[in-house]
Amino acid sequence: MHHTGIEKVVYGVEDLDVAKKFWRDFGLKPVADDSAHAVFATQNNATIEVWSSDDPSLPSPVATDTRSTVREVTFGVRSKGDLKALTEKLAAAGDVREDDEGVIHALDPLGFGFAFRLAQCQPVTPAAIKTNVPGNIKRLNQRGPKFDHASPLIMSHIVYVTDDLETQKDFYVDMLGFKLTDSYPGRGYFMRCADANNHHNVFLLNPGQGKRGFHHLAFELGSIHELFGGGNNMTRSGWETMIGPGRHPVSSCYFRYFKNPCGGAAEYDFDSDVVDDNWQPQEWDSTPENFAEWCLGEPGGIAPSRCYSGRVALSLGTCR
Ligand SMILES: [Fe+2]
Repeated sequence: MHHTGIEKVVYGVEDLDVAKKFWRDFGLKPVADDSAHAVFATQNNATIEVWSSDDPSLPSPVATDTRSTVREVTFGVRSKGDLKALTEKLAAAGDVREDDEGVIHALDPLGFGFAFRLAQCQPVTPAAIKTNVPGNIKRLNQRGPKFDHASPLIMSHIVYVTDDLETQKDFYVDMLGFKLTDSYPGRGYFMRCADANNHHNVFLLNPGQGKRGFHHLAFELGSIHELFGGGNNMTRSGWETMIGPGRHPVSSCYFRYFKNPCGGAAEYDFDSDVVDDNWQPQEWDSTPENFAEWCLGEPGGIAPSRCYSGRVALSLGTCR
């Protein structure tokens, strides 16, 4: 199987106008907007679609205690042969639907909607980062950059909270062909599309609370300066930080999460690990230190001990 990464994510939302403002402020490019829905794009042309939560064309939400949440994620594949193989495999095990544009749609064992289409996203070529280190000067007589907003390059990963971790992980690995990158054994699995180099495109997490639902969607930025400047813009625009800035030991990235009125959280990332088949998967203990080597908790205070508390990082209920 040759899938390439996340190409599209569809949300059903309670308030379309608020949803549109969030994604504009987050730094996505508006590409379509009418009374029924709106579409926003990253720099590599991956898209977010927001629809009214009661739109009958959307897959049903998994968590029924919120009206705003993700309904479907679309992954790219390299060829029609990949689509055919996936269709046949999914049809043998359950329901799969092909739409008029040749996109195949199905539900995973816990009811989360997914789709596959021929890959349409384009490679991005961000400006080179110039950093000064004694003995390795890249920026002579030149001030460092500042950002008044972010412009996310790609959508990198989606995260679900699950109460049936092994069943769901086996489906993504055995049925869909995802590869395991790292894990919290018995607690969480980081998985990537077979032909993607992102550390993970899907992360499944079981916080042990008997819940299932969408948790967050992550976007990769071009520099730590953009992560700071983009985050400041979100705060200025009235959006609440869920956690960060900080840094994850697993995947190595700097992060900042914002509570998203569309459901769950939206995450800025910078400098995530890039992997291929020579990567050595590692099993990690599920500890606060392995969630964040350091982070800010809520705005205005350093609260690393709270970073991985069930309340902040793992509870689905806190990031809606
Ligand atoms: Fe994440």
